[in-house]
Amino acid sequence: MIVLDGVAKTFRANDGSAVPALAKLSLSFRPGEFVALVGPSGCGKSTMLRLVAGLIPPTAGDISIEGSRVTEARSDTAMVFQAPTLLPWADVLTNVVFPLRIMGRYTPESEDKARELLALVGLAGFEKKSPRELSGGMQQRAAICRALLIEPRVLLMDEPFGALDALTREEMSLELLRIWSARPMTVLFVTHSISEAVLLADRVVVMSPRPGRIAEIIDVPLPRPRSFEQEGLHEFQDCAQRIRSLIFGNGGRRSGIA
Ligand SMILES: Nc1ncnc2c1ncn2[C@@H]1O[C@H](COP(=O)(O)OP(=O)(O)OP(=O)(O)O)[C@@H](O)[C@H]1O
Ligand SMILES: [Mg+2]
Repeated sequence: MIVLDGVAKTFRANDGSAVPALAKLSLSFRPGEFVALVGPSGCGKSTMLRLVAGLIPPTAGDISIEGSRVTEARSDTAMVFQAPTLLPWADVLTNVVFPLRIMGRYTPESEDKARELLALVGLAGFEKKSPRELSGGMQQRAAICRALLIEPRVLLMDEPFGALDALTREEMSLELLRIWSARPMTVLFVTHSISEAVLLADRVVVMSPRPGRIAEIIDVPLPRPRSFEQEGLHEFQDCAQRIRSLIFGNGGRRSGIA
């Protein structure tokens, strides 16, 4: 359904030099699939999401979603950025319904659905607050609600839980899985956490250092529904260890990544 065909991206740095962020890569994602992207900092994970979102054009190759070429942002695709990006002049509720208004899809029920989502992520009572009155993690949760409210067919999440404390992160992971299992959408999820990737994904795309290439694509052999208890299973441990050794080499014993 999402196809990247020979996609490469080279940026131009301020000094005019070329920065190859993604080497030519070809891969596809199945409809409804949950895919995690992991790899060292700077290997092009955010770049890949921005390309699929249609926010930047590839230097070479083509990206298509359901057979149509991605040339601009699409109304069926939502993105959660690495840092929360709420409009500072609007309250939380207005922020969450903003994309629906822009798309002309706002209905009287939109606000009810937005309130439900905010309650689901622990933000009930914060609807009329300004983003600056919220912590970074709370802002990120509001940004996740904003992405989910449009009921996207493709959900692109760039380290969405990076700013959350460990407990909230676990709760949000399970909530995301619940929402995803209730409604078909393809999720591309960037994370620095190997265990988060294994817990959430059907497949984990492991990328190598810049310019990003695909080191390997790993199938996660765990049944659904997933739960944190599965972290104790040897299938889980083997899978995480395989990813770790692909990223770090030498048996994956180097530390620095969760
Ligand atoms: N707009 C830009 N102009 C120039 N170089 C850029 C631009 N955006 C990204 N890059 C470069 O492209 C490479 C890939 O960046 P990208 O943000 O995709 O990495 P990443 O895998 O998401 O890293 P991290 O895990 O730290 O978020 C980096 O070397 C970065 O410096
Ligand atoms: Mg990034």
